[in-house]
Amino acid sequence: MMSGKTVIITGANSGIGKATAAGVVKLQGRVIMACRDRSRAEEAARDIVEETGADRDQVVVRHLDLASLTSVRSFCENILKEEPRLDVLINNAGVYQCPYTRTEDGFEMQFGVNHLGHFLLTHLLLDLLKRSAPSRILVVSSRLYKHGHINFEDLSSERSYDKAFAYSRSKLANLLFTCELARRLEGSSVTVNSLTPGIVRTNLGRHVHVPALAKPLFHLLSRALFKSPEQGAETAVFLASSPDVDGVQGKCFADCRPQVLLDKATDRDMASKLWDMSEIMVGITT
Ligand SMILES: NC(=O)c1ccc[n+]([C@@H]2O[C@H](COP(=O)([O-])OP(=O)(O)OC[C@H]3O[C@@H](n4cnc5c(N)ncnc54)[C@H](OP(=O)(O)O)[C@@H]3O)[C@@H](O)[C@H]2O)c1
Repeated sequence: MMSGKTVIITGANSGIGKATAAGVVKLQGRVIMACRDRSRAEEAARDIVEETGADRDQVVVRHLDLASLTSVRSFCENILKEEPRLDVLINNAGVYQCPYTRTEDGFEMQFGVNHLGHFLLTHLLLDLLKRSAPSRILVVSSRLYKHGHINFEDLSSERSYDKAFAYSRSKLANLLFTCELARRLEGSSVTVNSLTPGIVRTNLGRHVHVPALAKPLFHLLSRALFKSPEQGAETAVFLASSPDVDGVQGKCFADCRPQVLLDKATDRDMASKLWDMSEIMVGITT
């Protein structure tokens, strides 16, 4: 049970984030849905209340656009003003294989939203999480990290852009971030773990072109082969709530079990170098 616990979920208006929010609410937790589109988020909040029979004040909507560092900062300022505690932060929002675009601050969109926005968000909420300890941070990555590589010489993809590579790079960055943050959190009673949800039927594929004629077949196959959002959210709800993972630090889970990652996702030097570079990119001075 999660009664008395407050959980922030980014991108909670859709797919895995929305199902995770419903899962937390069913366990009596209070969810702050951190979303970029207020009306989509309000609609999702109404669905969650209807589905779970929860009190309306268990589901809170707040504006957060991870493609804007200004928005991340103002979201966190409000949270720090309004919230006396934060038990779980779930970095879930993500963009997948979008055409080349930049965030407000000029970063390649997938790296900017999936990694850098969450990097700053976590940094700004960390003291609150520490004050609320034992507390947890979850990072939603993807098995596609395997095809990624952190090319420090072109993190903003100015020299070349490959949308599939950029997604994999951002998801590898999620794992390296988890690795370095776990090292920094040793002994603090704040844990950070990542997860890969599997292939889930969500809106993530919005930028992937499926020819009109193939759409019915794709729809059928995805119904048969992909996880539902609820199944896709199981590991996140488990990591947010289960006493089985009390004190577990720096692991990556799939289907509620720890996974073995490729060396490139746990490389200490790479993780530390990415951390330093991310601090510079988001303008943190420590
Ligand atoms: N579905 C899969 O098969 C799969 C597999 C592996 C990993 N994942 C990971 O799972 C996570 C959730 O994805 P999903 O499958 O549930 O996809 P989804 O249905 O598209 O949900 C993604 C969420 O992220 C939000 N988002 C995108 N850009 C944002 C921004 N700039 N600021 C704030 N929020 C933003 C979206 O908001 P809008 O609705 O406003 O666009 C949406 O709420 C992602 O991190 C993804 O990489 C998914």
